[in-house]
Amino acid sequence: MSTERFILKKSHELPTNGKVSWESPSNIALVKYWGKYGEQLPKNPSVSFTLNNCKTTTTLLFEKKNDTTDFSFEVFLEEEKTPSFEPKIRKFFERIQVYLPFLKDFHFVIKTSNSFPHSSGIASSASGMSALACCLMSIEKMIDSSISAEYFQQKASFLARLGSGSAARSIEGGLVVWGEHKNIDHSSNLYGTPYPYQIADVFTTYQDTILLVDKGEKVVSSTVGHNLMHNHPYAENRFQQAHDNLDTLKTIFEEGNLDKFINLVESEALTLHAMMLTSNPYFILMKPNTLHIINKIWSYRKETGSKVCFTLDAGANVHLLYPENEKQQILDFINNQLIAHCQNAQYICDNVGTGAKQLA
Ligand code: PMV
Repeated sequence: MSTERFILKKSHELPTNGKVSWESPSNIALVKYWGKYGEQLPKNPSVSFTLNNCKTTTTLLFEKKNDTTDFSFEVFLEEEKTPSFEPKIRKFFERIQVYLPFLKDFHFVIKTSNSFPHSSGIASSASGMSALACCLMSIEKMIDSSISAEYFQQKASFLARLGSGSAARSIEGGLVVWGEHKNIDHSSNLYGTPYPYQIADVFTTYQDTILLVDKGEKVVSSTVGHNLMHNHPYAENRFQQAHDNLDTLKTIFEEGNLDKFINLVESEALTLHAMMLTSNPYFILMKPNTLHIINKIWSYRKETGSKVCFTLDAGANVHLLYPENEKQQILDFINNQLIAHCQNAQYICDNVGTGAKQLA
């Protein structure tokens, strides 16, 4: 599919100033995206739960300026001016400028805050980039009110993807697919789309409790990690496996078979980290406490028949995924057995959410 249709034509009149505000959530992948090509295009399809509580709120103030030779913006994180965010935003603006030709016409003040503690080790790039992309789409909508709701969502995801790949999955709620898959209608490498098939009720209220194992800077960024999938000895098999796992998940989502879900989700998490272990240079993002937690989950499941499972993103933190009807037992399990492995005894309770929301 062509990216041409995401280019805003220049002929419209621009507002002189304004303010828009969005909140956008994080997401947790069940089938992982790891490996990219071209401009932030995924080497394999992925699917995630959109989260509810872990989110970024971004307010964008804009004012028309006379000098249109360069971008002009300031970034505030939690009310504090944060110049360290500027290079990332500039790069984002450079990438998306062709699709939003008004970017150099305005001075922007970007005010952003996260619902989760800063430097908690939870990546804010998915929620942050998607919130900013939605704000920019609100400006586009002011400029061209004829755009459809569907176009708005798709282009917001398309833009978010150019900021951070996984951000493409943070616009829509529930289960979101990103990356072309032959058996998933409308799936695209360019943007995320809502998972279009039947989903057993149990998955609509799934819980995700994030155990904060390590809040430090990652030793290897995900950008570097993605790039190490080029010439990786297992890359092609891994990409094929992701396609196969999405096929398998279709049946699991429909039937609500949690044992099969657990097996697939944990295998995906460990495969993601196996790709890191077998890259060259190789690296390890898991910590001893990550492994302690995984072992305790396995023992707990064996003892109790619980349907709790884990997944990991590109870091040491552990996401505990479980059905809503186990909420109390799992909280007890965390407090009795897992909290000892969390940094400062910290964890964040989340669940499946409904996607990005406009606030103003
Ligand atoms: O969005 P990025 O480039 O930070 O990549 C993140 C990839 C994983 O979180 C490891 C997996 C995924 O699909 O979200």
